[in-house]
Amino acid sequence: MLMACRESTQAPMTETTALNQQWLDNAQYTVDAIRLYEKVYGEDFVSPGGCELSSELIRQLELEPGQRVLDAGCGLGSSSFLMADVYDVHVTGIDLSMNMLALARARLALKSLRGRVELKQKDCMTLTCSDTYDAIYSRDVFLHIADKLTLFSVLHRALKARGRLLFTDYACGPLPWHPDFHEYVDARGYQLQSAQGYTALLEQAGFQSVSVADRTEQFIGILQQDLQTIAGLDLERQAKQSLATSWQAKLERAMRGDHRWVVASARASSGQCGVNR
Ligand SMILES: C[S@@+](CC[C@H](N)C(=O)[O-])C[C@H]1O[C@@H](n2cnc3c(N)ncnc32)[C@H](O)[C@@H]1O
Repeated sequence: MLMACRESTQAPMTETTALNQQWLDNAQYTVDAIRLYEKVYGEDFVSPGGCELSSELIRQLELEPGQRVLDAGCGLGSSSFLMADVYDVHVTGIDLSMNMLALARARLALKSLRGRVELKQKDCMTLTCSDTYDAIYSRDVFLHIADKLTLFSVLHRALKARGRLLFTDYACGPLPWHPDFHEYVDARGYQLQSAQGYTALLEQAGFQSVSVADRTEQFIGILQQDLQTIAGLDLERQAKQSLATSWQAKLERAMRGDHRWVVASARASSGQCGVNR
């Protein structure tokens, strides 16, 4: 396999991880920005489709009580809370953003999940062999990660044999892109892949039964609903206008075919690295 196995779970943040954390907290995920996203997506959610879509996706994981699940890039903890509550699994939610985690921890403290959710500040790229899960779930996180082959190798190693990976993510259509899409991607530092690129990377990292579905049509429907939600928000006029403008631009980029959205699922192969876990 591609990654060397290290056992240290308490390693200090690498310089790259620290820089990424600062970028996330100071640029896209300031506390104010998170609260605005949440107004559109629904309480505790920072990804398209909110609770309804997350519930549908989580159902596909066919979780069983007592299993261990990783929510990679858990944000405010919405899906972690849902999985623990509905399926009685033990969820480890990891996120790099301090702002997200501070809010997520405050919300977890108000829930009665009896220790079934733990939230850790951690980079998805630094999971080690001591972190193993029955399933890994992730919503719209990998757009922030450039080295996706290493990412998938790390996630593959963190799954038990035949464990399931399920994620959604922003993706991209073929070049050439409209200049507006280039500008949008560059401004946010997004690292986008096509659906085909995702399939190849997952297979290269050792995953089996790989399925990457382009669900851009569904994404467009969600954006249209979001615009209606925004129109009904009780916000100061300028903030509401800027939210609507940004969502309308996102819708146009998706309708043009540059901005895509994928739902991917795959299984870890058995007996990886000669270790039968
Ligand atoms: C769009 S938000 C989605 C949050 C959550 N999954 C949800 O559905 O509400 C993306 C999240 O990915 C986190 N993130 C980005 N890069 C990460 C990394 N390398 N490791 C862990 N989390 C990361 C961000 O801090 C942010 O909380």
